[in-house]
Amino acid sequence: MKAAVTTKAGNPDVIEIQERSKPQIKEGWVLIKIKAFGLNRSEIFTRQGHSPDVTFPRIQGIECVGEIEEDLSGTYKTGQKVAAIMGGLGRNFDGGYAEFTTVPLEIAFPFESDLPWTVLGAIPEMFQTVSGSLNEALEINEGETLLIRGGTSSIGMLACQLAKTKGLTVISTTRNPDKENHLKENGADYVLLDNGKIHHALKNLFPNGVDKVLELIGIETLKDSLQCIRPKGTVCMTGILGGSWTMQEFTPMGDIPSLGRLTVYMGDSANLQKDLLQEFINAVAAGKINLNIDKIFKLDEISEAHTYMESNQAKGKIVVEI
Ligand SMILES: NC(=O)c1ccc[n+]([C@@H]2O[C@H](COP(=O)([O-])OP(=O)(O)OC[C@H]3O[C@@H](n4cnc5c(N)ncnc54)[C@H](OP(=O)(O)O)[C@@H]3O)[C@@H](O)[C@H]2O)c1
Repeated sequence: MKAAVTTKAGNPDVIEIQERSKPQIKEGWVLIKIKAFGLNRSEIFTRQGHSPDVTFPRIQGIECVGEIEEDLSGTYKTGQKVAAIMGGLGRNFDGGYAEFTTVPLEIAFPFESDLPWTVLGAIPEMFQTVSGSLNEALEINEGETLLIRGGTSSIGMLACQLAKTKGLTVISTTRNPDKENHLKENGADYVLLDNGKIHHALKNLFPNGVDKVLELIGIETLKDSLQCIRPKGTVCMTGILGGSWTMQEFTPMGDIPSLGRLTVYMGDSANLQKDLLQEFINAVAAGKINLNIDKIFKLDEISEAHTYMESNQAKGKIVVEI
């Protein structure tokens, strides 16, 4: 098979197109014929050698979509469409940058769809981040209020759309007043300008606080986000757009309001319900969710695709078609 192999840590040109033997299936795993995959920022860090568990050479790619080629367990028929996400894919074992891959059964998510593979390829990681954060971590419900901190990010925009399909009221934030309309067009009911402290402005709109907060900026705004929730409200930290991992001072009895709840979502595929992927794909097919795909590359162009992602020119998901 043809595979894009990251030969060593380095710049995008360390990824080489090579002929490899088709991976051997083992018990409890399935063989997938890959049709497309999305690129992810974490794959830049892995390529650069910053992922502690990753050794080279490695076929990267933490997500892919395709068809079952072989399943010894008989769970899936040959040709069943599946998405595979995370669980060590493209890090601890070879991943999606290839014509075939083998994955453990538990990270293969079956689905039915007539959407083009290039659209389906954009879905798994975006779906798992947004769905995992909203459904599993925040447990959103119809009628609730949701504050999305970092609302103009791809994840924030998609989270808003998904929350609106579930009947929530959404408040999205941006630092940039010019993006207010962009957020409203995407479905936000309210937009707040974020200078790092918005809880007073938020409480002007919702005096008791909101039910849920999706925190995508991270450490810089986390304490302020905790001040935005109602008693028994929840904040989920999913992103670190602000760039910091560690908070210097945190006082749980004080920084978390009484009865407030703080959780995180770290993208474990075991945290996801398989039927929600189908629901999400159906919403994309019905035009209820706009995926915002920026550019499609071929497998041979993988080094260019990495260069493009690293240049921050993309305004949406980058997809590679096999
Ligand atoms: N937990 C998981 O499983 C998981 C999975 C995927 C991604 N993530 C995380 O989710 C976050 C969003 O990812 P993405 O790819 O959707 O991001 P993105 O599209 O690249 O986000 C771009 C937006 O982020 C905002 N931003 C950038 N730097 C900022 C800063 N210092 N302070 C506040 N806002 C800032 C800007 O908004 P304005 O200029 O409009 O303010 C910008 O429009 C990232 O932190 C990513 O690591 C988590």
